[in-house]
Amino acid sequence: MQPTSPSLELQLADEQATAALAGAIAPHLRSGFVVYLSGDLGAGKTTFTRSLLRALGHTGRVQSPTFTLVQSYNLSSFDLYHFDFYRFSSPDEWREAGFDEHVGGDAAAVVEWPELGAGSLPEPDIWLRLEPGTEDDPDVRVARLSAGTDWGRQCLIAISDGVGLGLLAGVSLARQLPQQPSP
Ligand SMILES: Nc1ncnc2c1ncn2[C@@H]1O[C@H](COP(=O)(O)OP(=O)(O)O)[C@@H](O)[C@H]1O
Ligand SMILES: [Mg+2]
Repeated sequence: MQPTSPSLELQLADEQATAALAGAIAPHLRSGFVVYLSGDLGAGKTTFTRSLLRALGHTGRVQSPTFTLVQSYNLSSFDLYHFDFYRFSSPDEWREAGFDEHVGGDAAAVVEWPELGAGSLPEPDIWLRLEPGTEDDPDVRVARLSAGTDWGRQCLIAISDGVGLGLLAGVSLARQLPQQPSP
């Protein structure tokens, strides 16, 4: 896993803003798309994924995979696996659990705590790092987005344009960081 430098830094005013960001990312998902979600407990990784799944048309429950390690969703055009590696103690455990065929293969994958699969996980298309709110602003999140592939870069450009045009309620540009060099 290469450390991908952030290229878009957003401020999310509240949970609806997080949902708006998820809604903007959702149309870019497809078979094989990989999203990494980083951030401390309570940062909003599962909440973001729930909104992502809603935007992709899933109407049923979205449970945190903290204890089950994975939840799978049969969406209209692809399957999506939602992983949480929090309970893994070594980078190869996700592979030993038989998850490797579900990351970067036919399904889309969203991975919470990808750091715990460090070195053996495929490069993400999108890496979203969420910073928990503060005591003063418990619902505000800083979201740092970076892209590891061309699919991801296209997604980031679309989000940056959408935020610039004011299309994502509650989402504002905190900082536009220099574009990463293409691999
Ligand atoms: N802007 C926001 N984005 C995401 N979650 C938020 C936001 N503001 C408040 N929250 C709350 O923070 C909590 C995030 O929890 P969760 O998504 O389970 O975090 P994680 O999966 O990162 O541990 C939820 O209770 C959610 O309602
Ligand atoms: Mg979670």
